[in-house]
Amino acid sequence: MRTPLLAGNWKLNCLQKEATELASALAAGCTGLAGREVMVAPTYTSIAAVREALAGSGIGLGGQDLYWESDGAYTGEVSAEMLVDAGCSHVIIGHSERRQYFGETDQTVANKTRAAVEAGLVPVVCVGETLEEREGGKTLDVIRRQVEGGLAGLPPAGHETLVVAYEPVWAIGTGKTATTEQAEQVHAEIRALLATVTSAGASAGTRILYGGSVKPGNVDELMACPNVDGALVGGASLKADDFLRIVHFKETAS
Ligand code: PGA
Repeated sequence: MRTPLLAGNWKLNCLQKEATELASALAAGCTGLAGREVMVAPTYTSIAAVREALAGSGIGLGGQDLYWESDGAYTGEVSAEMLVDAGCSHVIIGHSERRQYFGETDQTVANKTRAAVEAGLVPVVCVGETLEEREGGKTLDVIRRQVEGGLAGLPPAGHETLVVAYEPVWAIGTGKTATTEQAEQVHAEIRALLATVTSAGASAGTRILYGGSVKPGNVDELMACPNVDGALVGGASLKADDFLRIVHFKETAS
């Protein structure tokens, strides 16, 4: 009932030429793909080139961030409407790097999520604890605060489209992946929380992605967890072969 979503977060990487080559390889490798969705989020400056390279492939295009006002004197920002205008269907919100380096808070995540939904974008809202928080036994408290705070005021239209990404900060770009038990425990908790934020029905249909050093070698076992409905992939999404292997994860891990 939940179609797996495999999403590539390209972060601050790829000039237009590299982005176009990567997108073209993904488009070729996803021909005839059924039963799963794919999305990539390039930098703003590569969105147009990637859109062209992905044309007709069925691969979705996402922004890596947005601002919640639709226009005005906000130098450097990009609105939800602008992402839609550029061809985006999705947008990543509240990534831990934005929280860590750019002052993102649960309040700004809530503002951005609302704006994304109102513009018709699928919001991919990221949550996750730091190593210190995990070691201090605070993981579930942090997740609860981020889910409840970041989804406060989510318009009803977003109940069906919302995607949540659980990305333990200590697993991002470190090569350390959460164990399947760790991922499943937090994913199940997020789904229970979502039932109170949206509804039990909507929460059962919400895709919860795992992110943090997802690779060809661990995607199958992660995807075998009942509450893991996809992956948000950083480093491995920059290599076409690796990301295509992730997209073609095997339904039953051996
Ligand atoms: P990683 O990044 O796959 O390189 O760990 C994941 C992310 O930040 O979304």
